Amino acid sequence: MTSEARKSIHGTWTGKWTFILAAAGSAVGLGNIWKFPYMAGEYGGGAFVLVYLVCILLIGVPIMIAEILLGRRGRRSPANTMAYLAVEARAFPQWKYLGMMGAVAGLLILSFYSVAAGWAFAYIFEEFNGTSAEYYGQEFDSFLKDETRLIFFHSIFIFATIFIVARGVIKGIEIWINRLMPILFIIIVLLCVYATQTGAFFEGVSYLFTPDFSKINAKVILAALGQAFFTLSLGMGAIMAYGAYMPANQNIGSTALYVAFLDTLVALLAGIAIFPIVFANNLEPAVGPGLVFVTLPWAFVNMPLGIIFGKLFFVLLTIAALSSAISLLEPGVAWIVESLKIKRYIAAAGLGFIAWTLGIFSALSFDLLAGFTPIGDKNFFDSLDFLSNQVLLPLGGIFIAIFVGWVMKRSDVFEELNLKEGLVLKAWFFLLKFVSPLVVGLIFVLAVFFGVVT
Ligand code: TRP
Repeated sequence: MTSEARKSIHGTWTGKWTFILAAAGSAVGLGNIWKFPYMAGEYGGGAFVLVYLVCILLIGVPIMIAEILLGRRGRRSPANTMAYLAVEARAFPQWKYLGMMGAVAGLLILSFYSVAAGWAFAYIFEEFNGTSAEYYGQEFDSFLKDETRLIFFHSIFIFATIFIVARGVIKGIEIWINRLMPILFIIIVLLCVYATQTGAFFEGVSYLFTPDFSKINAKVILAALGQAFFTLSLGMGAIMAYGAYMPANQNIGSTALYVAFLDTLVALLAGIAIFPIVFANNLEPAVGPGLVFVTLPWAFVNMPLGIIFGKLFFVLLTIAALSSAISLLEPGVAWIVESLKIKRYIAAAGLGFIAWTLGIFSALSFDLLAGFTPIGDKNFFDSLDFLSNQVLLPLGGIFIAIFVGWVMKRSDVFEELNLKEGLVLKAWFFLLKFVSPLVVGLIFVLAVFFGVVT
């Protein structure tokens, strides 16, 4: 049966743009504007960026195509899609655990994602009148010790996520994404223009784009791979859950490329805006998660109309984070609603509560719980981040690639893609079948071997 005949029990989204907006809304978020720049700074600039771009293109895009394809063919929540497609392929029913693992990974990510989104949220109310970039460094450090404020903004953010998912994802976000995201994009471009005025534009840009190959090691590769999965929302079923609503006649391949392109563009522009400010002010590129909160406020202080742009920027960043966060909650909620036949808002509230509770530990991990280091010397926030992004997502990715590449009937896969047999299709299938599982597997082995964790 083609997917034309199998409409999702949740209905399909009409129009090609709805899926693209939802998927881009999921992909573009804190991962691009907050995480990408600070990871690039921590892992050596150009070397990290190069590996990251290679991972996006050779592993990320093929797996994104696979995830959309699974979702659209299954037309259910990720866990039930996997169960259904396993039957169709006469494979082990245990494949459904892949979907369930994804739902759990989504909650883990949501828990600390919401804390970081709370930072962006809180910065809407910053004054932007400090007198140096260092001032904003100290501001951020003391902000991380203000537990009440951190928990307050984390709580509101999770609540908003629950509220939107409870109403149904598309009703909740459509207008926001297509009206507001273009404005966020324009502000980032303006910040890039400001960066040309700092006097260190070329230094910043060459830091990002001139790879120092001696800096590439197992740790950098694993971090770049994890970031590629994270930024494209891959490996845990978010894109699969959205794929379930994609119209049958929409081209999966070009859609995936488009979303990946937009996502990468935003991340690179954020880097181009931030690093010139870092070098012009003699800041440390490797300061970690605070990078964007130290550099951009200082840019806003110096820009014409900076106060307005500053507020607007953090409002939009919070909304971008929200449209990502809902895709972290959705796979679990859709699964519970389908399987247990309980109301959507109850499922959303229940799972959201779990993420909220875990998030409290993340919020406290910079001060009160700083001594609590579950993985290596990483605090709770960084441990969850590491576990989900650098372990669970790539692992999910390997299994998705194996399922589509090896388990499903080849004719079913090609039918769903709706492409003529040709070079592009063959290249994609090769990347998915051999390159993704082998390369990701190899990176894991290297990482364990070289003791990345400790
Ligand atoms: N991609 C989002 C970002 O860059 C985060 C995100 C949303 C995500 N859904 C996901 C990450 C699913 C991994 C898996 O901010």
